[in-house]
Amino acid sequence: MIQVGFILSIVATVIATFPTTLVYQSPTGLFLENIAVRPCSKLLLTSALSPALHMLDPSSANTTFDEVYSFPNASALFGIIEYQPDVYAVVTANAQSILQTHRVNPGSIAIWRVDFRLKTPIVTPIAGIPQSTLINGLSSVPGHPDLVLAADSGLGAVYEITMSTGAVRIAIQDAAMAPGAPAPALGINGLHIHGSALYFTNSQQGTFARIPIAVQSKGVSKAGAVLVLSTVEPPGLPHRYDDFTFDADGRAWVTAHPGALTLLYPLTNGTWAQENAAGDPEGSYAVFMEPTSATFGRGVNKKILYVTTEGGQVVSVDASGK
Ligand SMILES: *[C@@H]1O[C@H](CO)[C@@H](O)[C@H](O)[C@H]1NC(C)=O
Ligand SMILES: *[C@@H]1O[C@H](CO)[C@@H](O)[C@H](O)[C@H]1NC(C)=O
Ligand SMILES: *[C@@H]1O[C@H](CO)[C@@H](O)[C@H](O)[C@H]1NC(C)=O
Repeated sequence: MIQVGFILSIVATVIATFPTTLVYQSPTGLFLENIAVRPCSKLLLTSALSPALHMLDPSSANTTFDEVYSFPNASALFGIIEYQPDVYAVVTANAQSILQTHRVNPGSIAIWRVDFRLKTPIVTPIAGIPQSTLINGLSSVPGHPDLVLAADSGLGAVYEITMSTGAVRIAIQDAAMAPGAPAPALGINGLHIHGSALYFTNSQQGTFARIPIAVQSKGVSKAGAVLVLSTVEPPGLPHRYDDFTFDADGRAWVTAHPGALTLLYPLTNGTWAQENAAGDPEGSYAVFMEPTSATFGRGVNKKILYVTTEGGQVVSVDASGK
């Protein structure tokens, strides 16, 4: 009886709600960490196991994974975000034991600007964050094109980086962003501003949460208490939320380890619901092998989500159906 119930639940959950297509599979299974979509629709991809930023054209019949730039003194790239048109912030670090420790080598984190507005990208170091043990996701700050927010998964905090000056300060630190036990776990992972709030995932705590923020001349600050909107399903490791993106309707598409994409959306009474959008929340790699980040395409692809995975996949999800 138990076995039959188990099989039925697996069958029920592997049926993808939204159609998926494998856009690219790294032949070496290179761990893909984060993604940005350029105005020209090409994808920029980071890897936690490579110092190189790669570019991929998802609409090409024979998609190639092209190195754009290899960062010096780094073994890993983490978050990437477009903070001005075709200008990106990228997190780099030396992190040879990242898979075992979830931490980078002490003092090795840097934030770089990658400017694609000219034919040859201009790459500039902006700031170090030597006190951090892991900077994970990045967010732009709408209306403030000089600011970038960075999630510190070890400290449980959000840094604000002024990209023109390299000034770095802790903007928000909160227990809801902290990793908790057992160390060294990942606390706050993805973060994105939507409306007048900062939304974030906490991998160890299994939560998707929101904190109201204010952006004034002194920068970003908290303007209220954290509200947890959703908890990963099924609960407990290895199930954990990773990075996410918002759609035009204010719904969040959240990558969920080991193998799913979860759609989170507000109900009319203000609480949030979740449903499986693609893949298998129970854990098989039917569609995604440890999904890490998601973002929407541009132009004709604006309802296509691109999802990266630790297994070296770029998977597109056709989100136009609902
Ligand atoms: C794609 O690449 C394969 C292998 O190199 C080749 O056989 C095929 O013709 C290519 N297809 C297109 C559309 O270029
Ligand atoms: C490389 O990074 C280390 C910290 O990981 C730092 O001590 C060293 O100065 C850096 N070297 C260069 C050339 O930037
Ligand atoms: C909000 O609405 C949902 C769906 O109708 C319901 O399940 C939930 O209990 C409601 N929550 C509150 C706090 O009213």
